[in-house]
Amino acid sequence: MNFLPKGICLYLSVAACCFPSGVDSSWWYMGTLGSQVMCDNIPGLVSRQRQLCRQQPRVMEAVGAGVKDWISECQHQFRSHRWNCNTAQKDHTVFGKLLLRGSREAAFVYAISSAGMVYTLTRACSQGELETCSCDPRKKGSSRDAKGSFDWGGCSDHVDHAMKFTQVFVDAKERKERDARALMNLHNNRAGRKAVKRFMTLECKCHGVSGSCSVRTCWQAMGDFRQTGDYLRKKYNSAVQVVMNRYGTGFTSAYKKFEKLTKNDLIYFEESPDYCMWDHESGSVGTGGRVCNRTSRGADSCEVMCCGRGYDTSRVSRTTKCECKFHWCCAVHCRDCHEEVDVHTCKAQS
Ligand SMILES: *[C@@H]1O[C@H](CO)[C@@H](O)[C@H](O)[C@H]1NC(C)=O
Repeated sequence: MNFLPKGICLYLSVAACCFPSGVDSSWWYMGTLGSQVMCDNIPGLVSRQRQLCRQQPRVMEAVGAGVKDWISECQHQFRSHRWNCNTAQKDHTVFGKLLLRGSREAAFVYAISSAGMVYTLTRACSQGELETCSCDPRKKGSSRDAKGSFDWGGCSDHVDHAMKFTQVFVDAKERKERDARALMNLHNNRAGRKAVKRFMTLECKCHGVSGSCSVRTCWQAMGDFRQTGDYLRKKYNSAVQVVMNRYGTGFTSAYKKFEKLTKNDLIYFEESPDYCMWDHESGSVGTGGRVCNRTSRGADSCEVMCCGRGYDTSRVSRTTKCECKFHWCCAVHCRDCHEEVDVHTCKAQS
């Protein structure tokens, strides 16, 4: 595939100029455009998405800025695995061809990208960055929890608003297709959106005579996005392989016919490649050059990571802070220590 350089493409601002049709692309690409999201420059947006993009450019800017956050959470979750949520450089599909397959990894990426969009938008709303939303307007007056009554105060994160927008925007693409893969994506998108809400907590401040907490003001706050990442990672581990039901309206588990699927489960159709080798067809980049751990027995062990191809070892010197001493008052002085460590990296295929 010969793409024109992206710069030229942006210049012409005609998406159709540079990209072969039929290659999957999506709103994820906005993350690489920085603040200059131009709705016409994102190949792969469907007309409804383009329309929303033009109507709410500030929202799109926020969404684009948030892409790097959920991608880095994805990479954190899979840092010690063969597939490490790597993105394809200078590629408008962001993840390369890998996600064309309806794999478990595709399920995870669809879920965490939807979750990431909900998270980003909710935060932007709470921080007053957008004109179209703010704190949750329903959290007014007083309410009760297990500890008694409290007054709503401060800013409650308005996750429901962000969930709605995310659903309309992200799902617009899948609603145009209506094939099995689109239904899979819709399911995983929803699981991702719902995951964020799971980690909302009530936070309170105490008032009253000498901190008696006789009066409380509380607000609903999202947890750290890491919690959502950890949760979806668990859902990835227990993801369910499915087949379409005979009416083509939904799914059943491929191997346990009577297993009940829930809306929180991630679902997928196809087995994953082993991600060992560079493979143009599947989009796998392989594990050549990846760092592995010689003493581990897990997925990051050199045996598993390098798929039996073996590894190279090199000595690298690292500088760390050491012998830190506290000086009264108030400074900490450290020495720079050099240490030599062995770094093992997987051999590329021969
Ligand atoms: C390698 O794996 C071992 C065992 O799981 C662990 O204790 C060690 O911290 C790991 N080393 C690195 C550099 O991650």
